[in-house]
Amino acid sequence: MIVDVVMHPAEIALLKGRLLPDVLCVVFDVLRATSSILTGLAHGVAEVVPVETIEEARAIAAARKDAVLGGERNGDRIEGFALGNSPMEYCAIPGRVVVTTTTNGTVALRACSGANAVWVGAVLNLGALAREIRRTAPERLLLVCAGTFETMALEDVWAAGALVDAFTDAQWTDSARCAWTVAKQWPVSGEALRLSRNGRALINAGREKDVDWCASLNKFDVVGEMVDGIIRTRRSA
Ligand code: MLT
Repeated sequence: MIVDVVMHPAEIALLKGRLLPDVLCVVFDVLRATSSILTGLAHGVAEVVPVETIEEARAIAAARKDAVLGGERNGDRIEGFALGNSPMEYCAIPGRVVVTTTTNGTVALRACSGANAVWVGAVLNLGALAREIRRTAPERLLLVCAGTFETMALEDVWAAGALVDAFTDAQWTDSARCAWTVAKQWPVSGEALRLSRNGRALINAGREKDVDWCASLNKFDVVGEMVDGIIRTRRSA
């Protein structure tokens, strides 16, 4: 298996034009989009529909009466949306369909839709991801770090690097090796998350609990899988 990492959001825009049919993509937006999606799935959310724009989210939700709107712009809940992007908000809506739009996370998920498989990654489910990747044994594994606006995000690269570390027997690209080096620099996830720009911004905004939640290693034994634009809990074969 070849393990590669997309570290910067500028590369994400290029994914749409790249041939990804033999690639398993795992998308990380640790603070907080993918952590919130996984928290929802772990608490019985039926489906998550990630979209790029607020208008798209509103249109999809209007057509489905079981839908709840979630997401953020500049970290805050969007006007008229029931949920923001704090993972804890996704614990109390079992059975519902969440239509979500966030600045980077949902954009990165959509950009990978040409891949053979698209999974949702976070610190919360690194162990489950490693196990399922081993089980499916893809030819190519591409870990996609969603970043923040136009910049790289330390917490996404940290999580990707920690997953790279589970595949020392694979062939690593230079970016996989860089991400692995980042993860080795901070052996405890909470250190990296608290130090990151996003972590500090959330703590300063009074959202320290979100950072601690998202830093929790292997809190959930869940892998989210996006098929035809809809994320559901993956049932392993
Ligand atoms: C994003 O998608 O950019 C993030 O999840 C932002 C956030 O949660 O504040």
